[in-house]
Amino acid sequence: MKIIVINGPNLNMLGVREPKIYGTRDYAALSSFIAEAAEKYGVDVKVVQHNGEGDMVTEIQNALGAFDAIIINAAAYTHTSVAIYDALKAVAIPTVSVHLTDINAREDFRKVDFISPCAEKSFVGMGFDGYAAAIGYLAEKYGNQ
Ligand code: DQA
Repeated sequence: MKIIVINGPNLNMLGVREPKIYGTRDYAALSSFIAEAAEKYGVDVKVVQHNGEGDMVTEIQNALGAFDAIIINAAAYTHTSVAIYDALKAVAIPTVSVHLTDINAREDFRKVDFISPCAEKSFVGMGFDGYAAAIGYLAEKYGNQ
């Protein structure tokens, strides 16, 4: 099974950005964590990060026919992006959304979520472990592909 993990804006700043909220581990640590989880569950994973909304849309479009599932942390675009919503609907690839923090327990604007309606499952507020949970969920459900 082939999974693409698409991370959105400012996640490359992990370790530097608001460490009290996002922790002190950096983006390279997150990428390694995801690779280890993928190995544990026996799936192939590609991890990408984009700061631009259009780059994320293109990545989603290019996933069609190339990946069996998408794990997406759209970061701030979660709360604003009809374009990412439309792209996920267009490709109709099984999708799981992840947020390091619990977006429902923060500012009100983070409660608006354009991505979870496209996702069959969401993991929020679990830190890095949310990505492992997403991989585990997809591997269990679709792992024989
Ligand atoms: C985030 C939550 C978003 O609200 C925020 O804009 C991010 C990160 C998270 O993983 O907790 O950049 O997606």
